[in-house]
Amino acid sequence: MGSILLGASELRALTRSPEKPMVLILLGPPGAGKGTHATPLSLSLDLPHISTGDLFRAQIQSNSSLGQKAKFYIDQGSLVPDDLVLDMLFDRLKAQDCAQGCILDGFPRTLAQAKALDLRLENKSQILALNFHVPDSILIDRIAGRLVCRDCKKSYHKLFDPPATADLCGECGGRLYTRDDDQASIVSKRLEVYREETMPLIDYYAAQNDVLKEVDGQGAKEQVFQDVLNALPSFAKAISSQ
Ligand code: AP5
Repeated sequence: MGSILLGASELRALTRSPEKPMVLILLGPPGAGKGTHATPLSLSLDLPHISTGDLFRAQIQSNSSLGQKAKFYIDQGSLVPDDLVLDMLFDRLKAQDCAQGCILDGFPRTLAQAKALDLRLENKSQILALNFHVPDSILIDRIAGRLVCRDCKKSYHKLFDPPATADLCGECGGRLYTRDDDQASIVSKRLEVYREETMPLIDYYAAQNDVLKEVDGQGAKEQVFQDVLNALPSFAKAISSQ
Protein backbone atom coordinates (compact mmCIF):
# COMPACT_ATOMS: atom_id res chain seq x y z
CA MET A 1 0.00 0.00 0.00
CA GLY A 2 1.31 3.47 -0.81
CA SER A 3 1.92 6.01 1.89
CA ILE A 4 -1.06 8.20 2.77
CA LEU A 5 0.36 11.07 4.76
CA LEU A 6 -2.55 12.35 6.82
CA GLY A 7 -2.09 14.94 9.56
CA ALA A 8 -3.18 14.22 13.13
CA SER A 9 -6.36 16.31 12.83
CA GLU A 10 -7.37 14.56 9.58
CA LEU A 11 -6.80 11.16 11.18
CA ARG A 12 -8.88 12.13 14.19
CA ALA A 13 -11.69 13.40 11.96
CA LEU A 14 -11.67 10.14 9.98
CA THR A 15 -11.63 7.87 12.99
CA ARG A 16 -13.93 9.72 15.35
CA SER A 17 -17.69 9.81 15.41
CA PRO A 18 -19.49 11.84 18.10
CA GLU A 19 -22.28 9.25 18.12
CA LYS A 20 -20.08 6.17 18.32
CA PRO A 21 -16.66 6.46 19.98
CA MET A 22 -13.98 4.19 18.51
CA VAL A 23 -12.59 1.33 20.57
CA LEU A 24 -9.45 0.33 18.69
CA ILE A 25 -8.19 -3.13 19.61
CA LEU A 26 -4.54 -4.02 18.97
CA LEU A 27 -4.38 -7.77 18.38
CA GLY A 28 -1.27 -9.85 17.97
CA PRO A 29 1.09 -12.27 19.68
CA PRO A 30 3.52 -11.37 22.48
CA GLY A 31 6.28 -9.16 21.06
CA ALA A 32 4.31 -8.18 17.95
CA GLY A 33 4.70 -4.46 18.69
CA LYS A 34 1.29 -3.68 20.20
CA GLY A 35 2.72 -1.60 23.04
CA THR A 36 5.37 -0.01 20.82
CA HIS A 37 2.79 1.35 18.38
CA ALA A 38 0.04 2.05 20.92
CA THR A 39 1.99 4.94 22.45
CA PRO A 40 2.43 7.07 19.28
CA LEU A 41 -1.04 6.02 18.09
CA SER A 42 -2.51 7.31 21.33
CA LEU A 43 -0.82 10.67 20.68
CA SER A 44 -1.90 10.76 17.02
CA LEU A 45 -5.53 9.91 17.77
CA ASP A 46 -5.70 11.64 21.16
CA LEU A 47 -7.18 8.54 22.75
CA PRO A 48 -6.00 6.81 25.94
CA HIS A 49 -3.79 3.73 25.59
CA ILE A 50 -5.03 0.99 27.91
CA SER A 51 -2.80 -2.05 28.30
CA THR A 52 -4.19 -4.80 30.54
CA GLY A 53 -0.61 -6.10 30.95
CA ASP A 54 0.50 -2.67 32.24
CA LEU A 55 -2.54 -2.47 34.53
CA PHE A 56 -1.65 -5.87 36.02
CA ARG A 57 2.04 -4.93 36.40
CA ALA A 58 0.99 -1.77 38.28
CA GLN A 59 -1.18 -3.91 40.59
CA ILE A 60 1.77 -6.28 41.15
CA GLN A 61 4.09 -3.37 41.90
CA SER A 62 1.67 -2.03 44.51
CA ASN A 63 1.28 -5.56 45.96
CA SER A 64 -2.53 -5.32 45.86
CA SER A 65 -4.69 -8.39 46.28
CA LEU A 66 -5.47 -8.32 42.53
CA GLY A 67 -1.75 -7.99 41.79
CA GLN A 68 -0.93 -11.03 43.93
CA LYS A 69 -3.59 -13.12 42.17
CA ALA A 70 -2.52 -11.94 38.68
CA LYS A 71 1.18 -12.58 39.36
CA PHE A 72 0.53 -16.27 39.90
CA TYR A 73 -0.75 -16.61 36.29
CA ILE A 74 1.57 -14.08 34.61
CA ASP A 75 4.69 -15.76 36.06
CA GLN A 76 3.67 -19.03 34.39
CA GLY A 77 2.85 -17.43 31.03
CA SER A 78 -0.86 -18.23 31.45
CA LEU A 79 -3.75 -15.84 31.04
CA VAL A 80 -5.24 -14.20 34.11
CA PRO A 81 -8.82 -15.53 34.58
CA ASP A 82 -11.45 -13.61 32.63
CA ASP A 83 -13.41 -12.38 35.66
CA LEU A 84 -10.35 -10.62 37.14
CA VAL A 85 -9.46 -9.07 33.76
CA LEU A 86 -13.01 -7.89 33.04
CA ASP A 87 -13.56 -6.25 36.45
CA MET A 88 -10.26 -4.36 36.14
CA LEU A 89 -10.72 -3.31 32.51
CA PHE A 90 -14.36 -2.28 32.80
CA ASP A 91 -13.51 -0.20 35.84
CA ARG A 92 -10.83 1.59 33.77
CA LEU A 93 -13.30 2.18 30.91
CA LYS A 94 -15.54 4.18 33.27
CA ALA A 95 -12.93 6.96 33.44
CA GLN A 96 -13.78 10.23 31.75
CA ASP A 97 -10.78 10.01 29.37
CA CYS A 98 -12.45 7.02 27.65
CA ALA A 99 -15.59 9.00 26.71
CA GLN A 100 -14.27 9.64 23.17
CA GLY A 101 -12.95 6.10 22.76
CA CYS A 102 -9.73 4.28 23.60
CA ILE A 103 -6.95 2.02 22.34
CA LEU A 104 -6.95 -1.46 23.90
CA ASP A 105 -3.58 -3.25 23.96
CA GLY A 106 -3.66 -6.89 25.06
CA PHE A 107 -7.44 -7.03 25.50
CA PRO A 108 -9.50 -9.00 24.58
CA ARG A 109 -7.41 -12.19 24.77
CA THR A 110 -10.22 -14.79 24.79
CA LEU A 111 -13.55 -15.16 23.01
CA ALA A 112 -15.29 -14.77 26.37
CA GLN A 113 -13.53 -11.41 26.87
CA ALA A 114 -14.48 -10.27 23.35
CA LYS A 115 -18.13 -11.16 23.92
CA ALA A 116 -18.13 -9.47 27.34
CA LEU A 117 -16.72 -6.31 25.71
CA ASP A 118 -19.49 -6.38 23.07
CA LEU A 119 -22.10 -6.61 25.83
CA ARG A 120 -20.44 -3.88 27.91
CA LEU A 121 -20.33 -1.45 24.97
CA GLU A 122 -24.01 -2.18 24.10
CA ASN A 123 -23.39 -1.26 20.48
CA LYS A 124 -22.74 2.34 21.55
CA SER A 125 -19.08 2.24 20.48
CA GLN A 126 -17.51 1.13 17.20
CA ILE A 127 -15.06 -1.72 17.77
CA LEU A 128 -12.20 -1.85 15.26
CA ALA A 129 -9.22 -4.19 15.36
CA LEU A 130 -5.69 -4.09 13.96
CA ASN A 131 -4.01 -7.48 13.84
CA PHE A 132 -0.20 -7.45 13.80
CA HIS A 133 1.22 -10.44 11.97
CA VAL A 134 4.80 -11.40 12.94
CA PRO A 135 6.46 -14.86 12.65
CA ASP A 136 7.55 -16.63 15.86
CA SER A 137 11.31 -16.44 15.12
CA ILE A 138 11.12 -12.62 15.05
CA LEU A 139 8.89 -12.49 18.15
CA ILE A 140 11.38 -14.53 20.15
CA ASP A 141 14.29 -12.24 19.20
CA ARG A 142 12.24 -9.16 20.03
CA ILE A 143 11.16 -10.39 23.45
CA ALA A 144 14.64 -11.70 24.30
CA GLY A 145 16.08 -8.17 23.93
CA ARG A 146 13.22 -6.13 25.36
CA LEU A 147 13.85 -3.53 28.06
CA VAL A 148 10.97 -1.59 29.64
CA CYS A 149 10.98 1.67 31.58
CA ARG A 150 9.77 1.17 35.17
CA ASP A 151 8.22 4.65 35.19
CA CYS A 152 6.69 5.51 31.79
CA LYS A 153 6.56 1.88 30.48
CA LYS A 154 8.23 2.75 27.14
CA SER A 155 9.77 -0.32 25.47
CA TYR A 156 13.33 -0.48 24.13
CA HIS A 157 15.33 -3.29 22.58
CA LYS A 158 18.97 -4.10 23.36
CA LEU A 159 19.79 -4.41 19.62
CA PHE A 160 16.90 -3.02 17.55
CA ASP A 161 16.06 0.08 19.63
CA PRO A 162 18.73 0.61 22.29
CA PRO A 163 18.46 3.48 24.80
CA ALA A 164 20.96 6.31 24.27
CA THR A 165 22.21 5.80 27.86
CA ALA A 166 22.47 2.23 29.09
CA ASP A 167 19.62 1.20 31.42
CA LEU A 168 17.96 4.64 31.35
CA CYS A 169 14.79 5.70 29.57
CA GLY A 170 15.34 8.44 26.99
CA GLU A 171 11.82 9.81 27.59
CA CYS A 172 11.68 10.16 31.37
CA GLY A 173 15.06 9.05 32.77
CA GLY A 174 13.44 6.04 34.52
CA ARG A 175 15.32 2.74 35.07
CA LEU A 176 14.96 0.08 32.38
CA TYR A 177 14.31 -3.53 33.39
CA THR A 178 13.62 -6.93 31.84
CA ARG A 179 10.13 -8.31 32.49
CA ASP A 180 10.08 -11.54 34.56
CA ASP A 181 7.80 -13.19 31.98
CA ASP A 182 10.27 -12.47 29.14
CA GLN A 183 12.42 -15.50 30.10
CA ALA A 184 12.63 -17.97 27.18
CA SER A 185 10.74 -20.81 28.93
CA ILE A 186 7.80 -18.52 29.77
CA VAL A 187 7.78 -16.92 26.32
CA SER A 188 7.22 -20.30 24.64
CA LYS A 189 4.23 -20.88 26.95
CA ARG A 190 2.87 -17.38 26.16
CA LEU A 191 3.10 -18.10 22.43
CA GLU A 192 1.27 -21.42 22.90
CA VAL A 193 -1.45 -19.71 24.95
CA TYR A 194 -1.72 -17.00 22.28
CA ARG A 195 -2.32 -19.63 19.56
CA GLU A 196 -4.94 -21.49 21.60
CA GLU A 197 -6.83 -18.70 23.30
CA THR A 198 -6.30 -15.46 21.38
CA MET A 199 -5.88 -16.40 17.71
CA PRO A 200 -9.59 -17.34 17.40
CA LEU A 201 -10.33 -13.63 17.88
CA ILE A 202 -8.94 -12.96 14.40
CA ASP A 203 -11.81 -14.99 12.90
CA TYR A 204 -14.27 -13.45 15.37
CA TYR A 205 -13.52 -9.91 14.16
CA ALA A 206 -12.94 -10.92 10.52
CA ALA A 207 -16.54 -12.20 10.44
CA GLN A 208 -17.78 -8.64 11.16
CA ASN A 209 -17.91 -6.17 8.27
CA ASP A 210 -14.99 -3.69 7.99
CA VAL A 211 -13.85 -4.30 11.58
CA LEU A 212 -10.49 -6.07 11.14
CA LYS A 213 -7.38 -4.85 9.31
CA GLU A 214 -4.18 -6.86 9.01
CA VAL A 215 -0.81 -5.17 9.52
CA ASP A 216 2.48 -6.76 8.54
CA GLY A 217 4.44 -6.22 11.75
CA GLN A 218 7.77 -7.67 10.56
CA GLY A 219 9.46 -4.58 9.17
CA ALA A 220 11.30 -1.74 10.85
CA LYS A 221 9.33 0.06 13.58
CA GLU A 222 8.89 3.25 11.49
CA GLN A 223 7.60 1.28 8.48
CA VAL A 224 5.15 -0.71 10.59
CA PHE A 225 3.83 2.47 12.22
CA GLN A 226 3.32 4.03 8.79
CA ASP A 227 1.37 0.89 7.77
CA VAL A 228 -0.75 1.30 10.91
CA LEU A 229 -1.54 4.90 9.98
CA ASN A 230 -2.30 3.83 6.40
CA ALA A 231 -4.76 1.22 7.66
CA LEU A 232 -6.80 3.70 9.73
CA PRO A 233 -8.61 5.58 6.93
CA SER A 234 -10.07 2.29 5.68
CA PHE A 235 -11.94 2.07 9.00
CA ALA A 236 -13.75 5.29 8.10
CA LYS A 237 -16.37 3.28 6.21
CA ALA A 238 -17.31 1.30 9.33
CA ILE A 239 -17.41 4.49 11.38
CA SER A 240 -19.41 6.60 8.91
CA SER A 241 -21.97 3.86 8.25
CA GLN A 242 -23.18 4.02 11.87
P1 AP5 B 1 1.05 -8.12 28.05
O1 AP5 B 1 1.85 -7.14 28.78
O2 AP5 B 1 -0.16 -7.69 27.31
O3 AP5 B 1 2.05 -8.90 27.10
P2 AP5 B 1 1.84 -9.51 25.61
O4 AP5 B 1 0.54 -9.45 24.97
O5 AP5 B 1 2.38 -10.88 25.77
O6 AP5 B 1 2.54 -8.55 24.73
P3 AP5 B 1 3.95 -7.98 24.87
O7 AP5 B 1 3.92 -6.82 25.81
O8 AP5 B 1 4.93 -9.08 25.16
O9 AP5 B 1 4.22 -7.55 23.36
P4 AP5 B 1 3.91 -6.27 22.51
O10 AP5 B 1 3.14 -6.72 21.32
O11 AP5 B 1 3.33 -5.15 23.31
O12 AP5 B 1 5.40 -5.94 22.05
P5 AP5 B 1 6.29 -4.63 22.27
O13 AP5 B 1 5.66 -3.49 21.58
O14 AP5 B 1 6.66 -4.47 23.72
O15 AP5 B 1 0.57 -9.28 29.03
C1 AP5 B 1 1.43 -9.88 29.97
C2 AP5 B 1 0.65 -10.94 30.74
O16 AP5 B 1 -0.43 -10.32 31.45
C3 AP5 B 1 0.00 -12.02 29.88
O17 AP5 B 1 0.88 -13.09 29.58
C4 AP5 B 1 -1.15 -12.47 30.79
O18 AP5 B 1 -0.70 -13.34 31.81
C5 AP5 B 1 -1.59 -11.15 31.44
N1 AP5 B 1 -2.65 -10.49 30.67
C6 AP5 B 1 -2.59 -9.27 30.07
N2 AP5 B 1 -3.75 -8.99 29.45
C7 AP5 B 1 -4.57 -10.04 29.68
C8 AP5 B 1 -5.89 -10.35 29.27
N3 AP5 B 1 -6.62 -9.52 28.50
N4 AP5 B 1 -6.41 -11.55 29.66
C9 AP5 B 1 -5.71 -12.40 30.45
N5 AP5 B 1 -4.45 -12.18 30.86
C10 AP5 B 1 -3.88 -10.99 30.47
O19 AP5 B 1 7.60 -5.05 21.45
C11 AP5 B 1 8.43 -6.11 21.91
C12 AP5 B 1 9.91 -5.75 21.66
O20 AP5 B 1 10.14 -5.67 20.26
C13 AP5 B 1 10.34 -4.41 22.25
O21 AP5 B 1 11.65 -4.55 22.71
C14 AP5 B 1 10.31 -3.44 21.04
O22 AP5 B 1 11.27 -2.42 21.17
C15 AP5 B 1 10.66 -4.38 19.89
N6 AP5 B 1 10.00 -4.03 18.64
C16 AP5 B 1 8.69 -3.71 18.46
N7 AP5 B 1 8.45 -3.50 17.15
C17 AP5 B 1 9.62 -3.69 16.50
C18 AP5 B 1 10.01 -3.64 15.12
N8 AP5 B 1 9.13 -3.33 14.16
N9 AP5 B 1 11.29 -3.93 14.80
C19 AP5 B 1 12.20 -4.24 15.76
N10 AP5 B 1 11.90 -4.32 17.09
C20 AP5 B 1 10.62 -4.05 17.45
